[in-house]
Amino acid sequence: MGFSKRWLLLCLLLETFLPYCKGKIYPRDIKLRMHKYRRLWNGVASNTGPNYGGWLLRILNSNGQFACVGAYYSPLLVITSANCIYPYRNSLEGATVEGTAYSKCDKENIADIDTIEFPKRFIYQKLYMDVALVRLKEPIKGRLTEFIRLCNVKVRPRMRMFVFGWGYDSAEVQAASSDPRNSSVHIMSTKECRPKLRKGLNLSSTSLCVRQPRNPRKCLYDGGGPMIYGTQLCGIVSFGSNCQDTSKPGMFTNIKKVSRFIVETEQSIKAGYIFRAEKYRRNKRAKLSGNSGTIEETKTTINPLDDMVC
Ligand SMILES: *[C@@H]1O[C@H](CO)[C@@H](O)[C@H](O)[C@H]1NC(C)=O
Ligand SMILES: *[C@@H]1O[C@H](CO)[C@@H](O)[C@H](O)[C@H]1NC(C)=O
Repeated sequence: MGFSKRWLLLCLLLETFLPYCKGKIYPRDIKLRMHKYRRLWNGVASNTGPNYGGWLLRILNSNGQFACVGAYYSPLLVITSANCIYPYRNSLEGATVEGTAYSKCDKENIADIDTIEFPKRFIYQKLYMDVALVRLKEPIKGRLTEFIRLCNVKVRPRMRMFVFGWGYDSAEVQAASSDPRNSSVHIMSTKECRPKLRKGLNLSSTSLCVRQPRNPRKCLYDGGGPMIYGTQLCGIVSFGSNCQDTSKPGMFTNIKKVSRFIVETEQSIKAGYIFRAEKYRRNKRAKLSGNSGTIEETKTTINPLDDMVC
């Protein structure tokens, strides 16, 4: 019996204890033309354990500082909040997007940003159409990197969702963690939400309100941070709330209501209607070197990651 057969048998025996056996360590990096359906996230149980999801990304500004959270949607597209990324739109030289799930086989999990696409009707610091697509110069590598599905369920009041982040935007509550965390929130009805909104903020037809966890330390509200239902991306952290006062609703963009913008932008790019940045240069730098050893930071609790052969 060869190694792989023995491994398969072991996997069958241990399937319930070892989610890795379901083959979530991908044999190769994401290629430009890879179909995203070959690489969709299948939930926590089938995923990379403490890494949560290979689709959770950090967007870094040109100084290498955290800017926004992103969700990996297709080889060259990352979904984030327009309000969050808007201030960075004119200084993208050196801005990057970084994967957060690493394996020892990965040398580079970071890609340069090419351009950012905003919906035409988005207005900075308003809630309507608060979504942006970050276009990358090359796919994000990594054997754990994967894509997230767009929401196809109708989001209703009281539904329980998971949000992800580091807590960069709630420094007044506690310091940001080095690894991403999750927290759960419940959807709030528009009727209940509207009177609780911050003064001067108008609820929009593309927004969702959530009830934040009572404990501010459990609140996560990093700009662009994903809100997940099952294995789908149903919302992203929008604008106009914070974690200091968790009695106020958290504002999220309803992905289902903006999915047309996402899909149409993707198609326009494919058809060549939307162009790349003028000065497109492939600029291969020693990307992970200046990056404070993010790989060493990753804690893996189950073995297949250690046993993988690169
Ligand atoms: C949230 O985090 C906990 C603790 O790390 C983990 O057990 C759980 O699977 C996570 N849930 C999601 C949806 O990622
Ligand atoms: C909110 O909506 C009202 C009525 O449509 C409008 O007059 C007001 O300017 C809006 N406020 C903001 C901050 O957009």
